[in-house]
Amino acid sequence: MANRRILSLLLLLCAGSLFAQKTSITNIEPRVEALLAKMTLDEKIGQLTQSPGDISTGTDVAKDDLLNQIRAGKLGSILSHTNFQNKITMQRVATRETRLGIPILFGFDVIHGYKTIFPIPLAQAATWEPDLIERIEHIAAEEAAADGQHWTFAPMVDISRDPRWGRMMEGSGEDPYLGSKIAAARVRGFQGKDLAANSTVAACAKHFAAYGFAEGGRDYNTVDMSDQRLRDLILPPFRSAADAGIATFMNAFNTLNGVPASMNKYLVTDILRGEWKWKGMVVSDWNSFGEVIVHGAAADEEESSAKCLGAGSDMDMAGSTFQKGLKKALENGKVTQAQIDEAVRRVLRLKFELGLFDNPFQYLDPQRREATLFKEEYRKTAREAAAKSMVLLKNDGGLLPLNPGGPFNKIALIGPFVDSRSHKDYMSFWSLGIGTPYYDSTKVVTPAMALKPALEALGFQVTVSQVNLQAGNEEVTYKDAIQAAKEADLVIAFVGEHGLDCGESRCVSDLNLPYGQERLLKIATLGGARPAVMVLFNSRPLTFQWANENIESILAAWQPGYETGNALADVLTGKVNPSGRLPVTFPHSVGQVPLYYNALSTGRPQERQGQLWTSGYLDGPATPAYPFGFGLSYTTFSYEAPKLNKTTIKSGETLEVSVTVTNTGKVAGVETVQCYIRDLVADISRPVKELKGFEKITLAPGEKRTVKFNITEADLAYWNAQSVWKADPGKFLVFTGGNSRDVKEVGFELQK
Ligand code: NOJ
Repeated sequence: MANRRILSLLLLLCAGSLFAQKTSITNIEPRVEALLAKMTLDEKIGQLTQSPGDISTGTDVAKDDLLNQIRAGKLGSILSHTNFQNKITMQRVATRETRLGIPILFGFDVIHGYKTIFPIPLAQAATWEPDLIERIEHIAAEEAAADGQHWTFAPMVDISRDPRWGRMMEGSGEDPYLGSKIAAARVRGFQGKDLAANSTVAACAKHFAAYGFAEGGRDYNTVDMSDQRLRDLILPPFRSAADAGIATFMNAFNTLNGVPASMNKYLVTDILRGEWKWKGMVVSDWNSFGEVIVHGAAADEEESSAKCLGAGSDMDMAGSTFQKGLKKALENGKVTQAQIDEAVRRVLRLKFELGLFDNPFQYLDPQRREATLFKEEYRKTAREAAAKSMVLLKNDGGLLPLNPGGPFNKIALIGPFVDSRSHKDYMSFWSLGIGTPYYDSTKVVTPAMALKPALEALGFQVTVSQVNLQAGNEEVTYKDAIQAAKEADLVIAFVGEHGLDCGESRCVSDLNLPYGQERLLKIATLGGARPAVMVLFNSRPLTFQWANENIESILAAWQPGYETGNALADVLTGKVNPSGRLPVTFPHSVGQVPLYYNALSTGRPQERQGQLWTSGYLDGPATPAYPFGFGLSYTTFSYEAPKLNKTTIKSGETLEVSVTVTNTGKVAGVETVQCYIRDLVADISRPVKELKGFEKITLAPGEKRTVKFNITEADLAYWNAQSVWKADPGKFLVFTGGNSRDVKEVGFELQK
């Protein structure tokens, strides 16, 4: 008996030390057990229930009075609550007026900043700078924590190859290597060194899993994919977040191979908790336990509760499935008390780790809130990030940057996004806090606000014509802008999508410039005769074939956030040399989707458009408009061929790849040196290229630098047909260059 007690104590201690997330709170396991022992079944189910607060980010759910529910011990967590005073009241009720005084856990979607709005996550990924992203999330965490939030539903680490899907904007693009680096950086940024610190929040890897592969790019839709693709492509960023110590995971809405992700035992129990030995808490997505019934995979709440809890999921977000069905599931023997207890333990543990039991009000200090939100210094990082995320796609004749003394004197700034004060623009759905005073449009610097004075200071004459978005009758709607453009030497058109065009449930079946904006471009540039720059606000790859052929310079600015105008002024005047690189492929047309760089070779690869009996289209190219990793600079770089320290490596050895890059232009610039591999002959077909390393370097004009990448056997391994991570011996290619298309290669061999 004594031995058994020692053993269980050891197990408890051991479990405690395995949690990767770091917290300064000690003695958590015995405290969790002591509390659990006092809890009734209803109180346990309450801890597994999360209710929406004062904003809704999903379908409406019936909300009883929150305070009464808290008082009755029916709620463990609240999501999307903005009102600070109410949070204090709720925490007071939870800790002082309930039987056990268990604090409430407040969660929020902190997607690209909390109060200070940064570029959307896809834009951040275009910086290829994990350290910068970590700093951004640290700021976001500081603001969120100061405003009483304990937990963010971010990062979204879903890989996606489909720009029709509105949520591509929330991820890091199409590549698992870049996605994994960024996932870990975001976790470090949000969670910091101590989860219990009052400046950090718990993070949540979502959506587990394969949500980015919804059929037809239609949100919430079916996903069906091989285990090989799941393991090789979708799971690595999740694994990276788990290894970085992320506190929570979120189920996806979709079915995966027929099984709704919320009740997917293979994903949650076998892989996440089993293979990866991850110890944190899994929350459903918005009523996704309830949606299992709509999927037709459970008859009612009792069965859905049993299946979701049984699969390893813990907390019911914005649903009433556990409230309605979990008790019955227990009574009817469909779940065990031990399973419920285990889920409750995970919730309590997180609350302890955050320091909520020790000081439930540490995130609710009005003075700290006042001193922290919207700090001026945060905007510097927002400006840096926005400028670094912008990708120069085209710059014929070196039209940009705009230097005085050139051929242009009069510049017309035109378009629906040149000076928009609409609450919808330069942001995303996630930063708008629909229906609440959460978003502050007076904080946005529009392009006109910053660019006009910056250009005037350089001696240009500048006009601004803001137009409203409206498709049809463009000649009339855009009359003033067109007139201004006609009177200018150079037109800068600010076009693209507004913030409500991107985010959850904002899917499209057409990627062309919306709202008649191509027509605006055509008329304003006299059919392409007048020199023009197109600044694109986009949350996804868009298609703009006419602009590609007729507009000299194109800058993809994404949705840049509060510092939009300042960042644009920095880039367009050359104060900042653009360095963003695409984290996703830009197709020519929506019909090419999905189009991505890390594809398998078909048996009939196409060499030129129109070549029959090869893999292509009769009516257009099979190649991208702009490939993954692409982005221009105001300078140019030349690459020597990559050199290897050896041509054969064995297990345990490291291949050193060196590549020398020279700045061949006239100004200093930042280059992202990229390293890809190809497994030439494997047991199964492998991608024609896979990113394995990148480094951002700054080079003065004429300066040359050698960048080194290390490749080991682990980098060559993949999930093979026998369901093991393994590298096949044989021939490989290694490529280096400034994007995934324009590379130089050298071969090597792996011997085993
Ligand atoms: C549904 C979204 O899919 C998820 O990402 C988000 O965190 C929740 N709603 C809460 O807003």
